Amino acid sequence: MSDLALPAIGLGTSGMTGDECVESVRAALETGYRHIDTAQMYDNEPAVGAGIRLADVDREDVVLASKVHPENLAYEDAKRTAEESLVRLGVDRLDMLYVHWPTNAYEAEETLRAMDELHDAGVTRHVCVSNFTPELLDEARDILDADIAANQVECHPLLPQDELRADAAEDGHTLVGYAPLGQGKIFDVPELQQVAERHSTSPAAVCIAWAIRKDALVPIPKASTEEHLEANVAASRLELTDEDMATIDGIEEQRRLIDPDRAAWNQ
Ligand SMILES: NC(=O)c1ccc[n+]([C@@H]2O[C@H](COP(=O)([O-])OP(=O)(O)OC[C@H]3O[C@@H](n4cnc5c(N)ncnc54)[C@H](OP(=O)(O)O)[C@@H]3O)[C@@H](O)[C@H]2O)c1
Repeated sequence: MSDLALPAIGLGTSGMTGDECVESVRAALETGYRHIDTAQMYDNEPAVGAGIRLADVDREDVVLASKVHPENLAYEDAKRTAEESLVRLGVDRLDMLYVHWPTNAYEAEETLRAMDELHDAGVTRHVCVSNFTPELLDEARDILDADIAANQVECHPLLPQDELRADAAEDGHTLVGYAPLGQGKIFDVPELQQVAERHSTSPAAVCIAWAIRKDALVPIPKASTEEHLEANVAASRLELTDEDMATIDGIEEQRRLIDPDRAAWNQ
């Protein structure tokens, strides 16, 4: 069982680079966010690191997560590129290091041995995985010495991931939910609009409040404007009723926005 304790909401940074990313990370930390999610793939680790240094917040108080690119998951590459992530971020350790997607160069034994060694060497405080199914989680648990601290997967009201949340709760890790706002494409779902109207708020706020009420789930919405950063923190304080939760959990439509077939990252 992992001892990782995450705040109720984190900040996703994919799609943000350069000054926009620096400013978003700085503003997020000064708004109260303490969990920042990046990845080798996002090409923004230097900007994320600069945002953390600019913010009036102690590095020790920030949970910083990065992910090893699927093409870098061979044993030597994973170890070398994780160290390169530290240099790009300008930090001496990560709090969470993920296997980004178990594809391409992923070989369970080799990749996870590298993750254990990165953990033992203090490159990361916690070993994490992303886009792992229950079967892949079982395999990883058998191989790893370290506990899995988090599994990061797509999760929002149209993809509630009940099985993976139950696995997380039982195993004592966190399910970190990506695309918690459905990338802005699910706000027209009538049940989300209905609950939003009941609370005089937005469907975006409802998505976040729904995720926070779910066991073992931490959403990491991406936000690049101060208005969205602040709205999403405010949403983390919105209390949905049992009736609201039942309305949302009754949504019949299921929608996955990130196609698992894209997982080979060959494009
Ligand atoms: N592990 C993986 O394989 C994986 C895959 C995908 C994503 N992720 C992680 O998860 C994070 C979040 O996912 P995502 O970026 O794909 O989608 P998302 O967080 O569901 O949606 C982001 C979109 O919602 C908008 N938004 C934010 N707050 C809003 C609000 N209060 N009202 C209305 N719109 C709002 C953002 O606009 P603005 O930018 O204009 O604020 C942006 O267009 C990523 O940034 C990344 O860190 C991980």
